[in-house]
Amino acid sequence: MDPGLIGRGGEINAICAFMSATSGAPAALAITGDIGIGKTMVWRHVVRTASRSSRVLSCQPALSERPLSFSALHDLLGEVAVEILSVLPSSRRTAVQAMLLGGTSSRPYSTDCSDAFRPSRERQVLARGVLDTLQALSAEAPLIIAVDDAQWLDRPSAGVLEFCSRRLHSEPVTFLLTFREESQVFPLGLDRVLPPDQLRRVRLGPLSPGSISEIFRSRLETIPPRHVRTRLYEACGGNPFYALECARALLEHPHLPLASEPIPIPVPRSLSDLMRRRVRQLTPNARRVGRLVAASSNPRERIIRAACDEGESWAAIDQAVDDGIIERQGDVLRFTHPLLRSVLYGEMRLSERRKVHQLLGAAAEDMEERAGHLALAADRPNENIAGMLDEAARHAASRGAPEDAAASQEQAIRLTTVGQLEKVRERTVRAADYHFRAGDLTRSRELIHSALASSPPGPLRAPLLLRLATIHYHQNGWPLAEQTFREAAQEASKDCAHRAHAEQELAFARLVAGDLPSASRWAKLSLRSAERAADPRLVAHSLARVALFEFLKGNGIRPDLLERAEALDASAGEEPIGRLPMLDPSLATGVVLKWCDRLDEARRRLADRYRQSLDRGEEVSLPFLLYHFSELECWAGNWDTAEEYALEGCRVADESHQLPMRPATLYALALVRAHRGLVQDARELATEALALCDRTGNVPLTSLVVSVLGFLALSVNDYQAAHSRLAPLAEASAAGGLREPSVVKFLPNEIEALAALGEVDLARSLTRQLEERGKSLGRRWALATGARCRAHLAALDGDQQGALAACEQALSYHQHLPMPFELGRTLLVRGMIERRARYKSVARDSLSQALGIFEHLGAPLWADKARRELSKIALQTSVDGLTCTELRIADLIAQGQTNREVASAMFVTENTVQTHVRHIFQKLGVRSRTELAARFRFTVASETLASRFSAKQTWADLPAPRASVEDLPMNITDLGDSSTCTRNYAHSHDLYKAHPGGRRSVKRNLRSTKEL
Ligand SMILES: Nc1ncnc2c1ncn2[C@@H]1O[C@H](COP(=O)(O)OP(=O)(O)O)[C@@H](O)[C@H]1O
Ligand SMILES: [Mg+2]
Repeated sequence: MDPGLIGRGGEINAICAFMSATSGAPAALAITGDIGIGKTMVWRHVVRTASRSSRVLSCQPALSERPLSFSALHDLLGEVAVEILSVLPSSRRTAVQAMLLGGTSSRPYSTDCSDAFRPSRERQVLARGVLDTLQALSAEAPLIIAVDDAQWLDRPSAGVLEFCSRRLHSEPVTFLLTFREESQVFPLGLDRVLPPDQLRRVRLGPLSPGSISEIFRSRLETIPPRHVRTRLYEACGGNPFYALECARALLEHPHLPLASEPIPIPVPRSLSDLMRRRVRQLTPNARRVGRLVAASSNPRERIIRAACDEGESWAAIDQAVDDGIIERQGDVLRFTHPLLRSVLYGEMRLSERRKVHQLLGAAAEDMEERAGHLALAADRPNENIAGMLDEAARHAASRGAPEDAAASQEQAIRLTTVGQLEKVRERTVRAADYHFRAGDLTRSRELIHSALASSPPGPLRAPLLLRLATIHYHQNGWPLAEQTFREAAQEASKDCAHRAHAEQELAFARLVAGDLPSASRWAKLSLRSAERAADPRLVAHSLARVALFEFLKGNGIRPDLLERAEALDASAGEEPIGRLPMLDPSLATGVVLKWCDRLDEARRRLADRYRQSLDRGEEVSLPFLLYHFSELECWAGNWDTAEEYALEGCRVADESHQLPMRPATLYALALVRAHRGLVQDARELATEALALCDRTGNVPLTSLVVSVLGFLALSVNDYQAAHSRLAPLAEASAAGGLREPSVVKFLPNEIEALAALGEVDLARSLTRQLEERGKSLGRRWALATGARCRAHLAALDGDQQGALAACEQALSYHQHLPMPFELGRTLLVRGMIERRARYKSVARDSLSQALGIFEHLGAPLWADKARRELSKIALQTSVDGLTCTELRIADLIAQGQTNREVASAMFVTENTVQTHVRHIFQKLGVRSRTELAARFRFTVASETLASRFSAKQTWADLPAPRASVEDLPMNITDLGDSSTCTRNYAHSHDLYKAHPGGRRSVKRNLRSTKEL
């Protein structure tokens, strides 16, 4: 896809499919659509793609060149001039040459368009020459004649091309044209000469809102906030060119419009001229209706009629429909072109607009609409209308439209009577809260600053500072947020409620700074303040934090605290608009469940929370949720979904300018891409995330990002790099008091790296720690991966029995762990150990299962590891044909010994050695000692050889996998049903295969989660 081209995949596929289906014979395809809809962009893309397999002659005629005869033909054939002139018969060559030279021969062609089609001999000769050219070129490769804006072809060129098109019968020549919508006739008369199935029009319709936003992102320096984008989209009807022009004009204004202002979209002069001409021709009745419709956000015919002067309304609306500016869609009236609305509204004087809004306000049936119109009709402050707007704002917020609520609230500020300082402050803060929820953090901050400016020091400032600090952590990062929370705590002084709130956030800020002990202290302090304030919601939030930090410190899940927190939170009713917590009790529980391997339960909770945020229009909390969601789905092996959530998170974080949230979503994306083996991609994402973590001050997130880099290094067998990334994380988490095993997901990777580097003691001690904590807390992930690490280390010690027993233990934990990638890794380790122990058939089984899992998930780097192991078994099999003596001899030869040295080492004659060597060569099919050494070294590591010479074990001697984990110590019984992970690892393949993965929208994913 063209790097600048956004969307249009469907249309391009249709075009390419048509072109390849019709490429054997003359065909024509026209891309049509309004000006600026993107015809040229698509045309260019298709031309570029087609030029890989076809010869393309192209031109882009312009209106200004239309009077110049043959300018288009000159552009089309200019490039191939040298090539074609030599093959043309002389008279035709002269004619074509003269045309290409721009008429240096004796003025053969008039610039007068009227005679372009007059049959003159010269023109005939030229046309024949061009036809010869097209035929000659198309004999070598399919030929495409590509004309952008065919309506501007100069008539003589068009005449020649038309002449040719009538004479092409079986040549592979495709005309690829673009032209404006208004022209109904197919250019060059192609519809008259080509059979219908060789002719196609592809009309480019409006782009989607998402694509238009994407275009803004790629073309504009500042991206307008979402509500402005929505209005731009509506005003420009999905036309990218209009949308860009209008956005640029709009961004030049110092203040962006509010959601409630009707048509603030300025139409750039170049575009509006056309519309203005149209509007000028309207009859007074049609114009009156047009203005009413233009001023309405939801123009229903009933309301417009009521707002029109009595009696004439029917006729007036009919007139506007007849004049072609308005069309009826059921009860709704719409402009035939979206820009008409901007022009009609823009041409009214202020007094006229007020009058129109007055009429609409009187006719409105909906209270939000009425308040909005009356506000725009008012020419001075009016407490009555301001009160209506307060009510309208509450109404809008309760239907999940904080954007609209913010707009009404801002109107209310404007209409507040002079001197009512308290009222202004109150409305300002409420408007700030609505903006915050809608994700417009910048406006929210401006309003809070203005409220702070009018507030004296003392407790009044505390709630404002709390809001400001919250905005900082969403927008600027943690250090500034923490500092502001401290100020808020100081200002709150004896006001326990505000103190509790500030202390809760300070607890979170300390956690983000990597200081868990202090975070825990603040959380406990906040609980005390909240209890003093006797505010159930505050108590609930403090309890949730205390529980979370206890969990992280390794003190297990505290269902007593979490349940109480949730119950209290629920009893406190709807959250007040002024409280904007990042972590509420339900989310805290969801996150804890996620860490504790209870992915299904966690998924349900996060989904509920996500839906709630969507329903309330709370953009601001989405990135944090999406990051957790994405990580969860990555662990669960649903990588398409994980990627989708991460991308959506990045998008929302960008759109709502939440810089500190971006690294979290980048991390989630890097994590899934790392699992997918997209090394470069994942590294770049991680690098960007690290830089942002640094700027915004987030220590735990930095560790997560670094852990992805460590995992990547491990995936490509760069153990040294893996260790140098992961070792500091292991030290920091130990030093920071992070004793919960399930939050140090990087630990098994570090252990594997250490083992590979020969640092066995440290690896063993970390493994012991992981397993001990896993056991005391009942964490299956820790137990499964811990046992896997133990297996690895036992194998290194040559304790095959112990290693295989540990594998079986790990697999029994996997039965209740819905993490297929981890299962794959354990099977890989088991397969490796079995292979080394020479249990070939079971090794092949384990490795094939691992390979199947990695392939199914799409983890190529890990699939390669499994494949490499499998190929070693194949080689081993050939080595297996050797007798014990032959094996010893082969081993010594592989070590570089001569026959004599081998003979003396084995107390046999040199002749005997020679005979054995001959047999070894035959059995292994090798022809030299070097080849033998290479094969042998690759296949059988010396420690494996040693094991082969010892007594043979059989598969039956190995311990059977444990059937259940009933004997696991559990302390999570009160938190709901823990038996949801009932999948047997042998069937887990099919289970997660059946999981509805694939590319679906986030909402659809969530719907299916609800149905779980
Ligand atoms: N699909 C698209 N992706 C990105 N930008 C687009 C797209 N379509 C149109 N544009 C923008 O709109 C402008 C006008 O598009 P263009 O292809 O010239 O329209 P047309 O040829 O239909 O008049 C382009 O310069 C580009 O900035
Ligand atoms: Mg164009």
